[in-house]
Amino acid sequence: MKFRSQRVAYLFFATSLALFVLQIIFGFIMGFAHMGYDVLHEIIPFNAARTSHINLLVLWLLSGFMGAAYYIVPEEADRKLYSEKLAVLQWAALVIVGVIALIGFQFGWWEGRKFLEIPRPLDYLVVIDVLLFIFNIGMTALRSERFTTTGSVLLLGLTAAALLYLPGMITFESQVIDSYFRWWVVHLWVEGVWELIMGGIMAYLLIKLTGIDREVIEKWLYIIVGFTFLSGILGTGHHYYYIGAPEYWLIVGGVFSALEPLAFLGMALYAVTMARRGGMRHPNRIALFWTVGCGVMSFVGAGFLGFAHTLPQVNLWTHGTLITAMHGHMAFWGAYVMLVLGMISYAMPQMTGRKLFDGWVPEWAFWTSNVGMIGMTGAFAVAGIAQVYMERKIGMDFLAVQEAIEVHFAGLILAACLLTLGVLMFVWNFIQYGVPSDEAIRDS
Ligand code: HEM
Ligand code: HEM
Ligand SMILES: [Fe+2]
Repeated sequence: MKFRSQRVAYLFFATSLALFVLQIIFGFIMGFAHMGYDVLHEIIPFNAARTSHINLLVLWLLSGFMGAAYYIVPEEADRKLYSEKLAVLQWAALVIVGVIALIGFQFGWWEGRKFLEIPRPLDYLVVIDVLLFIFNIGMTALRSERFTTTGSVLLLGLTAAALLYLPGMITFESQVIDSYFRWWVVHLWVEGVWELIMGGIMAYLLIKLTGIDREVIEKWLYIIVGFTFLSGILGTGHHYYYIGAPEYWLIVGGVFSALEPLAFLGMALYAVTMARRGGMRHPNRIALFWTVGCGVMSFVGAGFLGFAHTLPQVNLWTHGTLITAMHGHMAFWGAYVMLVLGMISYAMPQMTGRKLFDGWVPEWAFWTSNVGMIGMTGAFAVAGIAQVYMERKIGMDFLAVQEAIEVHFAGLILAACLLTLGVLMFVWNFIQYGVPSDEAIRDS
């Protein structure tokens, strides 16, 4: 690491991994409930487990993005972080808000709008927290003599993500309008501005890990970012088919969202080509595995499996079923989980001065978790297809179908155990690295 202040990233990374493990526990509770063993129902009902599972996911990914930004921005700005104290304060505030929200969910304190369940008073605290974060990295960039394209794309993505949180906070009487703007947050985050964050972090990692010229990597970054916006913004229409929005969204959403996989294909080809061209020269091969894996798996999960149900003719049958869960798992995994784990894998040796990337633990963590996630996606797919046919084509009762597909969740749990094993190995490796040390700072 170049500047001492970059070490603050460690707090965010450690928080990410702790919350990730907690997220997985709620996943198991739901997996067993789907199998017919809803034994914790009285204490943690399905809706509380589900809300906790998905909000923890978003929270830990945001914590990972923040850690990545606190690490990357000073380096790209070539100056120390504007204020390390403010970053620590902002971290503490994030953790406190997260813990209150999580406890609140267990007692039914929530808004009930999928992914935006955090109650309004806490939303305001989230906004203040994110403003502090943007201020801190923004000032770091502003005070630099020359800020890079990679840094700018990352900063733009983070700022836009903060702004897009706001449409989810307006209150509407109409359910239709409320749904309409909910998608501005949920869709425009994962299929819009988060892709900028992904592009920025991925470009940074590719520059560091492949040794290819920054100019080459950044040129492609522009093209991918351009394509993301072209397809992603109007692609929002693929969520407007059945909420009561005007009918023209069927064609607009269908056409533009069908183009979105091209942006993810671009990202995959980009990562693979750069890694091949640069060779495996960097000793930290495992960080490159996660980075290239992120490009490839996001194409499969978001691009390919997103396309599988994005056309109105298909979505008519699959909307809101386990097909959505199939796609949601692999898309989040490929695009954002692998990205954060890649960043952590790259930054830990840099921050601690220890080179623990060579052993079997990090490598097995990579393969086991990925095979586990592929298995989980398959289990959700089988359950989802069966559900669509029985419930929607044949017209069987919802609960009768849920019982009929219980067996597929045994497969889900088995694959989830594999994923969990991989994640625990990753966490073990992280713990072994220890905390950042002053010896790891170079030329500051
Ligand atoms: C042990 C591992 C896990 C298990 C057993 C598990 C299980 C589940 C289950 C049963 C659901 C609810 C499906 C329904 O609505 O009925 C769910 C939802 C969800 N999980 Fe997981 N999960 C696990 C890990 C993960 C991971 C690692 C991610 C992120 C990559 C993730 C992302 C999600 C998302 C985004 C949803 C909401 C999907 C939707 O919108 O329909 N889960 N999970
Ligand atoms: C990394 C990028 C992506 C992530 C993390 C992601 C994740 C998700 C999640 C969690 C949902 C459920 C949302 C909810 O019900 O509140 C969803 C829905 C959906 N996604 Fe994606 N997605 C991504 C990219 C894409 C792409 C590129 C496409 C199309 C090509 C797509 C097509 C869809 C469709 C059609 C739905 C609606 C499913 C339904 O009707 O129930 N997604 N996505
Ligand atoms: Fe979408």
